[in-house]
Amino acid sequence: MNRRLLAALGSAALALSMAACSGDGAGSGGNDSDQPGDLTIGVSMPTQTSERWIADGNSVKEKLEAKGYQVDLQYAGDDIPTQSQQVDQMITRGADVLIIAAIDGTALSGQLQAAADADIPVIAYDRLIRDSPNVDFYVSFDNYKVGVAQATALLVGLGVQTKDGAKGEAKGPFNIELFAGSLDDNNAHFFFDGAMDTLKPFIDDGTLKVTSGQTNIEQVAILRWQQEAAQRRMEDLLTSSYTGGTKVDGVLSPYDGLSRGIITALQNAGYKGADFPVVTGQDAEIASVKLIDDGVQSSTIFKDTRLLAEQAVVAAEAFLTDKAPEANDTETYNNGVKVVPSYLLPVQTVYKDDIKPVLIDSGYFTAEEVAAGQAG
Ligand code: BGC
Repeated sequence: MNRRLLAALGSAALALSMAACSGDGAGSGGNDSDQPGDLTIGVSMPTQTSERWIADGNSVKEKLEAKGYQVDLQYAGDDIPTQSQQVDQMITRGADVLIIAAIDGTALSGQLQAAADADIPVIAYDRLIRDSPNVDFYVSFDNYKVGVAQATALLVGLGVQTKDGAKGEAKGPFNIELFAGSLDDNNAHFFFDGAMDTLKPFIDDGTLKVTSGQTNIEQVAILRWQQEAAQRRMEDLLTSSYTGGTKVDGVLSPYDGLSRGIITALQNAGYKGADFPVVTGQDAEIASVKLIDDGVQSSTIFKDTRLLAEQAVVAAEAFLTDKAPEANDTETYNNGVKVVPSYLLPVQTVYKDDIKPVLIDSGYFTAEEVAAGQAG
């Protein structure tokens, strides 16, 4: 019997005894524990250093509060012990559902066991939580396709391919470098796999050359997705592999924050204008959208966090009404223990021409925000 059912039975018993005392007929009272205002959803987000997680946290909170639920939203400052402690507290404070975007996808097994013991459903938000049987649902985007889209945007930026997938005019060879996200984030692997499957034929036939020779995810990963670390790695690559007039033509970057670090390193090394390398991204962060608008960054991948938040709320409500949330993928996301039923949203590549139709016309940003490179 689950905890909510016990609570429901408890309040039904209370209602009955109150009815007996007051002489009210059967049917008065009701089950207060099912009122949204009595239910709390714990929302654990990884960090506030990246815009997207602030937007995600705010959207989930607003949407849940609009339905009358209580929300316990916490940010963990990209610190694993802090996130563990925050989730522990959400459980002791009596959360009815947990929505968690993990910093390290393998570090929350203890918390998830405690949640399971208290019959609290857990929704993994955007990042899959691994190595635990106690993940009940996963809401995310099609992460493999994000990687495919990033690599395709690199090929399009270099002119090797056209936007509609045809062969482009450019033959290369082009010098490129690869970056990946944090190895403890399950998504980083999906992004890199999607990208490498797309780039490999072009590396194999010599169209693309990874000048540094660093092509394994372990060599190119950036811990905690840190902008400064990406800048340092790009600086190191430029000094070690781009000497004697060799120029870098393109950089596969999996996240806008890393792209900005990479762009700074390239600018400091004197790259500018038409010769500026093609740099990809992800998340459509406002500062990067401006860089795309200014012709500095080549592309980003837009993931509409408003829709993701909506799906998390739909899943949470399903659990709160003792239903299984509707999945649209029950195969892809094996967390090491089980395949977690998932709801995956589509993604969209944004080049300069797409800023208005995709980001501004949908109300994600205003034209003024894009021009200023700052939201709000
Ligand atoms: C998310 C990306 C984000 C990255 C860094 C990933 O788990 O899916 O959207 O760019 O984390 O925050």
